[in-house]
Amino acid sequence: MRSTFINIARSPIKKYKTSEHYFKKLHAHYFKNHPIANGLAQADENLKLLIENGLVILPNYHSVEQINSVRDQIYPYVNAVKTGNKLGIKEQDIVKYEEDGIYRVRGIQNYVNDALPFFNDEYLLDIAHKYTYHPIRSTTGYADYKPDIGVHDGTTTMHMDQWKASIKIFTLLTDIGVSNAPMVYWKKSHKPQPWRFRIDFMNSTGLDQGSGFCPAQLVKNFEKITITGEAGTVIVADTRGIHRASNLLEDHRLQLVQKFTSDFYPHFSSVIKS
Ligand SMILES: [Fe+2]
Repeated sequence: MRSTFINIARSPIKKYKTSEHYFKKLHAHYFKNHPIANGLAQADENLKLLIENGLVILPNYHSVEQINSVRDQIYPYVNAVKTGNKLGIKEQDIVKYEEDGIYRVRGIQNYVNDALPFFNDEYLLDIAHKYTYHPIRSTTGYADYKPDIGVHDGTTTMHMDQWKASIKIFTLLTDIGVSNAPMVYWKKSHKPQPWRFRIDFMNSTGLDQGSGFCPAQLVKNFEKITITGEAGTVIVADTRGIHRASNLLEDHRLQLVQKFTSDFYPHFSSVIKS
């Protein structure tokens, strides 16, 4: 299972890792002023939708010309990762999950200059920062390629990436239909409500990567969205919300992904009054 989770060994919350009591206070503190729980006065329609639903889809956000140009330049690199022909890609930028049929080039903008404007889009960056609210801990951008039919992607199990708000901006470089491995998202499941507190807690301990506590009955009241779209469409999603991948049934999928994770490791002395 590819999933992000807190490295508990390096986290200041290490000594509290099994304490649900302390996590409850941390959780409350994290969401106290967060837009997910409180909304945001200065939000445009798209940011409001993101806050409300956990995702917003911006159809055809980028022009076909822009997309075609960058896509053609990216193919050789992602294919190089698949075939093992390095094409000058640094070892640390190569990500390969052969069993899942996923091939990635981290920092693709360092190899394909035309990818840079996609990662520097002022409007999208503004949305991501306002939504994440707490300072951003890390930003990563990569090209994500899924070309293998007949393999099973481990992340087709419903899960969330981490208990904290975590934004991913997906830019579709190919048309994505239901057969092209679309992401599936449970709308509004990102909201901090009692039904998912246990999921958040287990994830915070590092003992669960976000999938073990997401049985279907927990999300039965949420609307499931299969995110399809034409090349050029942008999806901004909080991967704290419940989601899953789909297996590829036809053709391939190529997209740019930019990820924002918030920094939030407060000292417990400042959080816990009792
Ligand atoms: Fe995920």
